[in-house]
Amino acid sequence: MRVIRSLSELRTAVRTLREGGKRIGFVPTMGFLHEGHAALIKQSTARCGATVVSIFVNPTQFGPSEDLAKYPRDIEGDQNLCLRMGVDLLFLPEVSEVYPTGFSTFVEPGRTGELLCGQFRPGHFRGVATVVAKLFNMVQPDLAFFGQKDLQQTLVIRRMVRDLNLPVELMVVPTVREAGGLAMSSRNSYLSPEERIRALAISQGLHAAEEAYHAGERNIDTLLAYVQEKVRPVASLQYCEMVDLQSLQSLQGVLGRPAAIAIAAFVGSVRLIDNVILAPSLEGAGLSTP
Ligand code: PAJ
Repeated sequence: MRVIRSLSELRTAVRTLREGGKRIGFVPTMGFLHEGHAALIKQSTARCGATVVSIFVNPTQFGPSEDLAKYPRDIEGDQNLCLRMGVDLLFLPEVSEVYPTGFSTFVEPGRTGELLCGQFRPGHFRGVATVVAKLFNMVQPDLAFFGQKDLQQTLVIRRMVRDLNLPVELMVVPTVREAGGLAMSSRNSYLSPEERIRALAISQGLHAAEEAYHAGERNIDTLLAYVQEKVRPVASLQYCEMVDLQSLQSLQGVLGRPAAIAIAAFVGSVRLIDNVILAPSLEGAGLSTP
């Protein structure tokens, strides 16, 4: 595995792989890698002749009161995980390489970026879309892998790829969970042992709603109540909505198309997100899955 810090070195290394006939898979991350990230890398190495992973804690997607400075980091652990998993190139750019002095051009995701998390994290998806567009231009992958865990992010990127005709295919990998059901996230490291137990209510509520859906329940309020009643006693709900999988618009009444329940809640001071897709399958939901 080659660890690469400069863009010029990256371009040369990717060109060499491509000239060798390799299909390039790409997994963008912010590091502090866990099994969720590993699942993306595994899919990439299985499907592509070469895999590039980037680790870049992207300042433009953090709000002024958010955790950029204290975002967890473990470069050594991350390098070992990538090495073990057969990553070809690990790209670790500096902020100055990604955002040169005078940087002023952004990708604006529009409505998809303003709903759900976008209401509470203004500018977040603009930062995500911008850095992912830049990373796509730097790496020029054939396939890029994203987690269902960050469903809205995935849909924002999918919209951007279509709207801007970016020559990359997206793959969405199902959410990897801890044994108790908690969706893996770098931010779980902020949870105290007691908060970690309380946080289980989120996945338990989503699971209950999913079971009710598969048993035939289609009333949206009833489905949402499974989640809300479980979560409200132990966490502070920011949103819990049934959303359309194309537009992310909130749905009411009776469910008649593929949708997702998306939730954000604070357990103590830690903001957690999770979701469940209510469709016969992820494919049926219009998401390309490995
Ligand atoms: P990060 O939070 O590091 O996540 C990188 C990728 O891992 C994302 O596609 C995310 O959805 C996926 N992921 C995280 N937890 C997961 C889990 N439990 N199961 C499956 N996949 C999981 O998301 C970002 O970084 C950034 O916004 C980024 C796209 C890199 C742009 O800066």
